[in-house]
Amino acid sequence: MTGFSTDWLDLREEADQRARDADLEARLADHFAGREELRIVDLGCGTGANARALAAHLPGVQHWRFVDNDPDLLAAARARMAQWGAAAGDPQGDLHMVAQSKQVHITFQQADLSSDLSAVIEPNDDLITAAAFFDLVSPAWIARFVETVAATGAVFYTVLIYDGEEVWMPSHEADNAVHAAFRQHQRGDKGFGPAAGSDAADLLIRRFAEAGYHVHAAPSPWRLEAPDRALIAALADGTAQAARETGLIDAATAHDWRTARANADAAIIGHVDLLALPPAD
Ligand SMILES: C[S@@+](CC[C@H](N)C(=O)[O-])C[C@H]1O[C@@H](n2cnc3c(N)ncnc32)[C@H](O)[C@@H]1O
Repeated sequence: MTGFSTDWLDLREEADQRARDADLEARLADHFAGREELRIVDLGCGTGANARALAAHLPGVQHWRFVDNDPDLLAAARARMAQWGAAAGDPQGDLHMVAQSKQVHITFQQADLSSDLSAVIEPNDDLITAAAFFDLVSPAWIARFVETVAATGAVFYTVLIYDGEEVWMPSHEADNAVHAAFRQHQRGDKGFGPAAGSDAADLLIRRFAEAGYHVHAAPSPWRLEAPDRALIAALADGTAQAARETGLIDAATAHDWRTARANADAAIIGHVDLLALPPAD
């Protein structure tokens, strides 16, 4: 699949943090309240934005394992986290820090999750988490993933799964056609087989419920306005390009839509957060 740039991940980090559902995060924190140590795996960690948002809400000494297939993003994650937590540690290896009053240890693992899943999730992991990741994977991979997690009894928490809902203001005559093409592009192969795209949250909910988990979901839309101008423009570019790649939108329409959208007053982009607690709890 095509890679994710650090520029794009940096651009979206603040909007992502604003969008995360606070009640679900609090429910996760309650679940682990009183724990002295936690083993946490962040799948598709990118530059580590998920840990920067979540670490403050989790108790105890936190042992994070950051997993990504992109070595450049893992290097960026190490640099960002070292700076975030004024970390000590081997500049090429693990990091150790006290950040936001939490003791945080991070190891970095380069792995292709499409094939290495069972080597990544370990029997004593407490929490499997991910942000902005699950719309990339296929329905078949989700089924395998849920089986693997359920076999360990770990908690599952993921945020910012794209759900296909978009409202741009003011409206544009090509909105429906562009969004239909974009959603089709989302279902292309992102390295895991044809992607679940905006069905990913529903599939996860169903599979974890079938595995006996208690599943909680909440909307976490981006609500973008004038101060998010750079993100709106980048989103307009990416959406128009993806829509164009499907062949469903002609070049003139894509160009016209992109130009109008880069100057949109506001946009709401739908996401879902999800917490699945294992049966014994
Ligand atoms: C949209 S980014 C999200 C990054 C980060 N979680 C965040 O919230 O900023 C998706 C991430 O999944 C990673 N990824 C995509 N395919 C992967 C694969 N096959 N194995 C491991 N990581 C993968 C990408 O490298 C990227 O870091």
